[in-house]
Amino acid sequence: MCSEPTRRGRGLAMKILVTGGAGFIGSNFLNLMAPRHPDHLFINVDKLTYAANLFSLKDIEHLPNYVFEKIDIADPEAVMAVFRRYEPDRVIHFAAESHVDRSIMEPARFIWTNVVGTFNLLEACRMTWGRKEGRLFHHVSTDEVYGFLGETGGYFTEETKYDPSSPYSASKAASDHLVRSYYKTFGLPIEITNCSNNYGPRQFPEKLIPLMILNALEERPLPIYGKGQNVRDWLYVEDHCEAIWTVIEKGRVSETYNIGGNSEKTNLEVVQAICRILAEETGRPAEDFEKLITFVPDRPGHDFRYAIDASKIKRELGWAPKESFESGLRKTVRWYLQNRDWVEKVRTDEYRRWLAVNYSERTRLDAGD
Ligand code: NAD
Ligand code: TYD
Repeated sequence: MCSEPTRRGRGLAMKILVTGGAGFIGSNFLNLMAPRHPDHLFINVDKLTYAANLFSLKDIEHLPNYVFEKIDIADPEAVMAVFRRYEPDRVIHFAAESHVDRSIMEPARFIWTNVVGTFNLLEACRMTWGRKEGRLFHHVSTDEVYGFLGETGGYFTEETKYDPSSPYSASKAASDHLVRSYYKTFGLPIEITNCSNNYGPRQFPEKLIPLMILNALEERPLPIYGKGQNVRDWLYVEDHCEAIWTVIEKGRVSETYNIGGNSEKTNLEVVQAICRILAEETGRPAEDFEKLITFVPDRPGHDFRYAIDASKIKRELGWAPKESFESGLRKTVRWYLQNRDWVEKVRTDEYRRWLAVNYSERTRLDAGD
């Protein structure tokens, strides 16, 4: 249920509904954009799943142009109630179940949130916006909808055929199709961005980079799936947030823009870089961390390589990432070293259960197996 409506939105330039704003990318987006754009009202709607953390928003929660509503986007009435209450002009849709490994264990939630939740938001837009000017539904999606690439050459472009591998990427692909269909069928003003792997502050430590940083600091194994040769294209989260804002301001309605970091790394290279930076930041030898690297059985259906061709957004809208992998990773390591209170808050019983379920079954493998 929604709380009392705020009057804070009156007279503001834009009312921007941000879904999933208590998660990793959404909270980084709000921390950047709410202070920078005091004329806009940012309405954060989030179900507060295990992946959410309101503590990530502590620096902006007092701002007059920020409000929070706890709702489940899979509940159509709750979504409509928020639309009636705030009459948003823009929707920036981050909310999703986002972890591939969890989608292998529990796919149903991914369908509810990623497909049905997106549908509910689109319906609310269709019913309340009609043909009003200045409205926009921005759908935040992933490069994983495109499937996977071979070892060398080739990039995902905006024209690459969809070929998702996991229940996560299939549910995101389904949501992308729904979003496009609402433009083609109903003329709803939409745009989609498909981004590569993000990393940075406030990422839940089930994902590769924060998991490895925290395990290394606590002298626990660094579990690399298979032989660690899978490749991801890494982008610092604030660069992603700036890209989304650029697309909202300058992008063309109905277009898709790929966003990437031009930073392809094997998982083993990523973990070795984390060990090196941790050593430099803590004054300990890198071997203290590297000796924790443990090869564990591979993820089923593990996509080999993702790599984004981000030339369209650069050419048409002038966006390019500011951080290199080296500078972004150092910022990230420092953030986790300096924000132990945040880390303790996400270490819930649910988190411990997840680690036990996902990793206890993965027995040690020799790298050469
Ligand atoms: P996250 O898992 O950290 O956060 C997701 C947020 O959505 C959480 O706050 C959660 O509580 C909320 N949420 C989940 N189900 C909900 C529901 N039913 N109703 C309302 N809120 C709900 O995810 P993230 O990494 O911040 O990803 C955000 C978006 O960006 C997702 O759509 C994801 O597909 C996309 N994306 C992520 C990456 C990445 O590397 N993390 C890369 C490309 C695209
Ligand atoms: P992840 O952060 O889960 O993102 P995604 O699956 O969306 O790319 O994983 C990034 C890569 O790291 C992926 O190839 C799987 C691998 N990985 C490991 O090797 N060990 C781990 O413990 C995790 C979580 C991921």
